[in-house]
Amino acid sequence: MRSGQFTWQGQTISFRPGETIAAALAGAGIGDLGRDGAGAGLRYFCGIGACQSCLVRADGRIVEACLTPARDGAVIAALEPLA
Ligand code: FES
Repeated sequence: MRSGQFTWQGQTISFRPGETIAAALAGAGIGDLGRDGAGAGLRYFCGIGACQSCLVRADGRIVEACLTPARDGAVIAALEPLA
């Protein structure tokens, strides 16, 4: 596993080896992961892939941020544009 950087909403986020997208975002002080298609707020919650509350787009694919390893060079975005 490698450390590296990805972008979240255009902001560069660094991560350590083995971190998930959610862990890296939390480490950067980011907890608001945007909104789903129905307007509900998304955030890190269960951490085990059960609640679907941490869905983000990773290189265009919808993934659970709490389960998905951070990848160097990835482009991560909220499902719906952040205000
Ligand atoms: S925080 Fe619950 S699925 Fe990711």
